[in-house]
Amino acid sequence: MRQTILVTGGAGFIGSNFILQRMEQGRAPVVNLDKLTYAGNVRNLDRIAGDKRYEFVHGDIGDRALVQALLGQHQPRAIVHFAAESHVDRSIRGPEDFIRTNVDGTLALLEEVRAYWMDLTEPARTDFRFLHVSTDEVYGSLGPDDPPFCETKSYAPNSPYAASKAASDHLVRAYHHTYELPTLTTNCSNNYGPFQFPEKLIPLVILNARDGKSLPIYGDGQNVRDWLYVQDHCEAIAAVLAQGRVGETYNIGGWNEKRNIEIVEIICGILDEMAPRTGARHRDLITFVKDRPGHDRRYAMDAHKIERELGWRPKETFETGIRKTVRWYLDNQDWVRDVTSGSYRQWIETHYSN
Ligand code: NAD
Ligand code: TYD
Repeated sequence: MRQTILVTGGAGFIGSNFILQRMEQGRAPVVNLDKLTYAGNVRNLDRIAGDKRYEFVHGDIGDRALVQALLGQHQPRAIVHFAAESHVDRSIRGPEDFIRTNVDGTLALLEEVRAYWMDLTEPARTDFRFLHVSTDEVYGSLGPDDPPFCETKSYAPNSPYAASKAASDHLVRAYHHTYELPTLTTNCSNNYGPFQFPEKLIPLVILNARDGKSLPIYGDGQNVRDWLYVQDHCEAIAAVLAQGRVGETYNIGGWNEKRNIEIVEIICGILDEMAPRTGARHRDLITFVKDRPGHDRRYAMDAHKIERELGWRPKETFETGIRKTVRWYLDNQDWVRDVTSGSYRQWIETHYSN
């Protein structure tokens, strides 16, 4: 078996950061299977486009014939499964795509991987890993004084997105329990950093503020999330892949709980410094808008297990990570124009039409 890793959803926010990090660390070849939905962007991987260890495949995880062919051709030693519909607000407007990719797609992938894995001979069979990337949202919402989520917390997903991810986590668990597929699951808190699609809070606020547009805060702005810099998440995934115990789940978080209003005010303060508005402060753009239906009040992760077992802790503080992120969005106007204009999508459809 080769050392190749098959990454799904590697043209999205976290997947592209993960692939770039691995390639820059000089690691083994990566095949990236991505459907290029609105959230996927091959330009995220421009830096390694010419690298012989990297191959991009345009396709759907639910296309079993394609997945089977890729597994046969590349003989990967591991799958790192990022591909998903990932935005809670979109799942509220229309859950079908979330079920199709996050549940049906994960099931199709698991079925093909199981067949591939069963045909492997030792030691490849024992060394193989299926790493499933998931979220803290599967655990539901915390009260202000509740302890953070640990791995034994029962699931209580509240949005269609969270429900679809919870279903996929259960499928992965069942494939280990029933078929002994060597799985690993990671549940992580909210990520931020370069290449995040600007429908999510942090990039949305940076770009709207830069353009002098209003900064929409749902409800009273007191909802709490635990924010982690994306590079730290990618390192945690690499640690779990390398040393995680088969069949286990690892919670990953930033030890960094913040209210949404705090996040927006911090970004506004940084922009006042990096890109001042004449005669006004960015925070003047803050607008409270109608709340998200069923909006979870608080998420917080207990990341002691991954620290105890694998020695992982976040390296970036929120103060350093958010400054890097704001700088990145200000410095990457072309990327922003591409993902927000729609012309990028048209180009991809034409370019990959065959
Ligand atoms: P994203 O929306 O930025 O990227 C998802 C990628 O998956 C895109 O490139 C998209 O084209 C691809 N994709 C979607 N459907 C596909 C399909 N059927 N077949 C192949 N590719 C498909 O998402 P992200 O923020 O990078 O999240 C990646 C994973 O991490 C998801 O599983 C998500 O649930 C999980 N996660 C995200 C966060 C976060 O804060 N963003 C936190 C914890 C966990
Ligand atoms: P988001 O980035 O969509 O992630 P998630 O819902 O998965 O946690 O939202 C983060 C928080 O910011 C969440 O509490 C909803 C809130 N939010 C706003 O207040 N305004 C916005 O325009 C968006 C997109 C999110």
